Amino acid sequence: SVLEMEVEQIKKGSYDHFMQKEIHEQPHSLTTTMRGRLKDGGVLLGGLKEHLKTIRRSRRVVFIGCGTSYNAALAARTFLEELSGIPVTMEVASDLLDRQGPIYRDDTAVFVSQSGETADTLLALDYALENGALCVGITNTVGSSLSRKTHCGIHINAGCEIGVASTKAYTSQIVVMAMMALAIGSDQISSQARREAIISGLSSLPRYASEVLKLDSEMKELASSLIDSESLLVFGRGYNYATALEGALKVKEVALMHSEGMLAGEMKHGPLALVDENLPIIVIATRDACFSKQKSVIQQLLSRKGRLIVMCSKGDASVVSPSGSCRLIEVPEVADCLQPVINIIPLQLLAYHLTVLRGFNVDQPRNLAKSVTTQ
Ligand code: G6P
Repeated sequence: SVLEMEVEQIKKGSYDHFMQKEIHEQPHSLTTTMRGRLKDGGVLLGGLKEHLKTIRRSRRVVFIGCGTSYNAALAARTFLEELSGIPVTMEVASDLLDRQGPIYRDDTAVFVSQSGETADTLLALDYALENGALCVGITNTVGSSLSRKTHCGIHINAGCEIGVASTKAYTSQIVVMAMMALAIGSDQISSQARREAIISGLSSLPRYASEVLKLDSEMKELASSLIDSESLLVFGRGYNYATALEGALKVKEVALMHSEGMLAGEMKHGPLALVDENLPIIVIATRDACFSKQKSVIQQLLSRKGRLIVMCSKGDASVVSPSGSCRLIEVPEVADCLQPVINIIPLQLLAYHLTVLRGFNVDQPRNLAKSVTTQ
């Protein structure tokens, strides 16, 4: 009805679409996610406090989710392993159920879901409860099935997300899992300095999110150069393997363009055969322990005349593209393990603009639903 349309426009404020609004809201949503939780150089997570000892004693942590929520957990995997010393394995909810994969009493199963109502994730939760694991929920929805059925958990407090493609929930989920990793690892003296650096990195994230959002018009321009491409590859590794998967997921979900995120280390085992002058490839090469490996990936792609778009840390343009032949996305550098929170934002903008330019429905992509409550 006309009234409904008007209400919707009021909720969108000055933005054309919810996805656009939610991307630009991230400096604020990240702030609300952390509000009251970073205290006296430590992390306070009320919903987890009573269970930290059990989690620390568990034999492994299993992350379980679907879609964007799975990707957020993947982004958190590396630093959770690093800060807790506990092995972390990844499960796509439907695949865990298909395999009836092993879940044990001494596992901590962490369920990640924006809506808290995704059927596959909830069925995997029932399965993990039956198998006696400690079940932790990470969700944006207070009172959801996920928050009611898990033993304990953390709300991400990102605010209501309406666009079908998840954006601000993704970055808030990573931040919550970073805080969770800090809380679990807080009994380890050896990593005290590292934890302090991450905590100070967390508090500066909203500022860097605002800074990276200034790439908006640059991403629109990049989108217009990709509008007729059939496919887009995204190569990442380490902390930013998840960024590659999530960037590609945004592009395929909303812009309806084929896109794949790939592990850069696997490039030579197949994907390299696809490289030519036409196929656009985004390489994520911001500063971290994998930087020199990514530089050599760029070299290998350039020597095969690849059409490269390189995401690098500010000031690294001449290092990653000495001949000036790559298109660049320069992002501010943050603590390595938090870099995925910043790096995804230009890719969200890219997917958004690509969708608008290609004339597709941004907030309700063809065939998709915000919350998939059937199996
Ligand atoms: C659907 C949505 C995705 C979302 C996924 C998981 O496929 O379209 O955007 O990432 O479900 O949703 P959840 O609410 O469990 O995070």
